[in-house]
Formats: sequence, structure tokens, C-alpha cells
Amino acid sequence: MSFAPKLTERFATVFDRSPYQSTDPIGKVQYVQKGNNVVFGRALRDDDEDNLVYIGKIMENTVGRNYLSADAWMDITFPHVIYITGTRGSGKSFDLGVLIEGISELNDPSPIQNAISPLCSIVIDTQSQFWTLKYKPNPRVPENATQLLDLQKWNISPNSLANCQLFIPHGTDPITGDEHVFHLNPRQVTHEEWCALIGQEVYSPQGHVLGRALDEMQESFSLEDLIQHLTTGEWEEIPESSRNAVIYKLDGYRRTGLFSDQGLDVKDLLKPSQCSVFMLRGIRNEDKALVTAVIARQLSSLMGEHHKKLKMSQFFDRETENDGLPNKVWMFIDEAHVVAPSGHLSPAKDALTDYVKRGRDAGLSLVMATQQPSAVDDRILSQVNLSMSHRLTFQADISAATNRVPTKLLKGLKFSGKDLSDFGDMLRYLEAGECFLGDHNTSRVVMTHVRPRVTSHGGYNPR
Ligand SMILES: Nc1ncnc2c1ncn2[C@@H]1O[C@H](COP(=O)(O)OP(=O)(O)O)[C@@H](O)[C@H]1O
Ligand SMILES: [Mg+2]
Repeated sequence: MSFAPKLTERFATVFDRSPYQSTDPIGKVQYVQKGNNVVFGRALRDDDEDNLVYIGKIMENTVGRNYLSADAWMDITFPHVIYITGTRGSGKSFDLGVLIEGISELNDPSPIQNAISPLCSIVIDTQSQFWTLKYKPNPRVPENATQLLDLQKWNISPNSLANCQLFIPHGTDPITGDEHVFHLNPRQVTHEEWCALIGQEVYSPQGHVLGRALDEMQESFSLEDLIQHLTTGEWEEIPESSRNAVIYKLDGYRRTGLFSDQGLDVKDLLKPSQCSVFMLRGIRNEDKALVTAVIARQLSSLMGEHHKKLKMSQFFDRETENDGLPNKVWMFIDEAHVVAPSGHLSPAKDALTDYVKRGRDAGLSLVMATQQPSAVDDRILSQVNLSMSHRLTFQADISAATNRVPTKLLKGLKFSGKDLSDFGDMLRYLEAGECFLGDHNTSRVVMTHVRPRVTSHGGYNPR
């Protein structure tokens, strides 16, 4: 039904029956009788129903009060840390697309947004598939034709992002032709991140050489300058082999062309309602992590400062000087295990941990999707307040994913003659686009079918 006042704009019923019957009731949930809506991710009940983005439909028959076919929304008033898990092809990138569409400025008004002010976002697109956010589904592409049929079934119109900027690293082939090439400035990379990049501990001999060299550089320098300094500077007490090893590794980086003294300035991306997509498929995993680190760190510091000023002016009732920054930013990371792996060195881990810790105070949200839930760093996951759990098959992944669900699991589900009492078994049965939505404010996970995408779902190249 939805909140739309006009009947023609309401979502179609889609499911009036479901093969899934849960056996424990949903004790606590934010249900809005008018229009048959359920709101996730909202701490306090609010009567004005603003700031909601459409997620999909509840698809379980619930014992007691039944919520089957109710429309599921997510409140975006406050920052979230969202964890999306599932096997390959289960609908994770699709969810990222659904959330990005929900918070972004669209070319046409759409009932998938209920009284929202479009937000600024940055997408770490590890597979280079989110450029399609700029376009409506294309009927000539078979995958998109199915999408259009789905949209019709749900009574939702196709749409496209109004302000989506694409970024590619140097040396990557453009896809649409309107991408901007970006570089990192070597000064933007901390000593710890350099060490993680070259696979060395900070206090190792190579880590030490690098630290000293960085200390001795000017405020602005190129990678060539750094290599030059390591080659010709005074290094008597440093073993030649350590210094050479660092030089060789840095020279490898010089050749990738990822660095330049004209590095990316994240401030340029922070325009209200701009979605910036970093298409990183063509570069190495550690470089994807580095790009993420540089962006996350700049975001934390810029937005932290911005909110600090905002709070002070509020407190002392002063005018805030306009720094042009939006109050909220969302960062999306697909294949999060690639940029924030648990267990081994990665340049992005500290930056992302700091990002999620500061998140609420600095207006920063994070959405991560992964097919390897056990491979994502725990310090980042400890802040998750909303989860979308799709199909998983391996027990280790199931345990890791369910550990991070921020509410109770479902205890029992009847499905095609079977009585399932193990949550892992329930996850194994899910089809693409179906998930258990979990949040702090709902007493247990709720089985939800994610809505169709309004923009083209990518994952293939133009023919
Ligand atoms: N909510 C959905 N509604 C309809 N089809 C979906 C939905 N989610 C996923 N799919 C289908 O599953 C395919 C794989 O989804 P995708 O999100 O790309 O998988 P992954 O989990 O590997 O990121 C999509 O191309 C689409 O056909
Ligand atoms: Mg994917």
C-alpha cells in the first residue's frame, strides 16, 4: 500500500500468499496501520513518517499479528551501519542499489522515497557495476527487461539518479565515457597505510625506513620525489637491503599511475545529493583498500570537524559559517571483505574503524556487502545496527553472519512441509532478493522481499 496518498501511486500487493509460515510472533515492531507499513532503523516512534526509504515487502506469514505483504521502510534520519551478507547472486549488490536509489536525488519523483531530502553518498564499487545508477533499465538488455516487468508488477516506475559522478583510477578503461580519472596524493597515505600496502609492520626495518623518509618529505611531494629521497638521501645506519626493498615496492606503485601530487580531494565530492561512484574493478585489492582508506579518513575528519562546529554554534546560539558541506554522508562498500579483511594487514581497517566509531556524531553512515561474512574485520562490524541476511550455505559463513545480526533470530519456520528450527537452514532456502532484515528496534529478524531496482542493475558491460 505505502504512504502514497494517490491510489495509482501505491505499490501493488505483490504477495497475498506466502509459502513461509513463522512460528514465533514479532513482539516489537514499528508498525503503521495506515497504509500497512513497517519501519526499520528508527529508534523513536515518530508520527510524521518523514525520512523513509522503501525497502520491499514482508514475505512471511507471521503467527499472531500477521504482517504479510506490509511495506518495509528504512528510516534515514540518523546514521546507520548496515551489514549485507549472502552468497554470490543472492542479491547483495542489488540491495546496495536499492538503498542508493532510496537516499539519492532521482530524476523523477518516486513513491520509493517518503519525504526525504536527498543525501550525499560515495560508493566503493569494487566490481565497477554501479555506473548504471545513472540510467533507467534498458529494455534491450535481457536482465533489465526482467527488471522492467518486476517494476510493473510492483507498480513502481523506472527512474535514474539525477547527480551521479563516476570516477576511475588512471589506466582503467572508461565504460560510459563520462568518468573522471582520479589519483591519490602520496601525502594522503599515512605511514601505517604505506606499511600495510607493502606488507610490513610499522616497526619492521622497512617500516622504519619508510617512516623516516615520509617525515623528511615536504608538505607536498610526488612518489618520484619519495623514491628519489630514498635513493640519494643519507641512510648510513639503515641496512641497504631494507631500503632497496622499499624502493622496489614504491617503484611498483609509481608504475601503476595511481599516485600524483594532484590527489583526490574528498571535499569536492561532498555536495548535497551527489553520488560519487569509484569504479575500482581494474586495480589490485590492496589498492582498492587504499582508495577506501583515503576516502574514509578524509570523510571522518571533514565531517567530524563540520559537526563539531555545528554543535558549538547551536550551543552558543551563534551563526554557523557555511563550509558548504552536507550534514550527512553515506558510504557504500561492495565486496567489503576485499577492503577490510580480518586477520591480515590492510590499509583500510583503521580508517574504517575510525569512520564507524565517529559515524553517529559526524553524520556518517556505512553500508557493507559481502559474500564472506567471516572475512570482514570485527572492529568495523561491532557497530552494525541493521542487517540484511541473504542466502548462505556454509556453516562458517552462517555463524559469522548471524553473530552480527543486531536482534534475535527466527526460532521456527514452516516451509513446504518442513519444520525448520535452525536459522542456518532458513537462510539456505532463500531465493535471490529475499532476506532476513534485522535491526535494533525490532524484536526479531523479519523475512523481507527486496523491491525491484528503479535504475538499471549493472554487472554486465554495454553491448
Ligand atoms: N530484490 C530482487 N528482486 C529481483 N531480482 C533480484 C533481487 N535481488 C537480486 N535479484 C536477482 O539476482 C541477481 C544477482 O543479484 P546481485 O545483487 O547482483 O548478487 P550479489 O549478491 O552477487 O551481489 C540480480 O541480477 C537479479 O537478477
Ligand atoms: Mg555483487
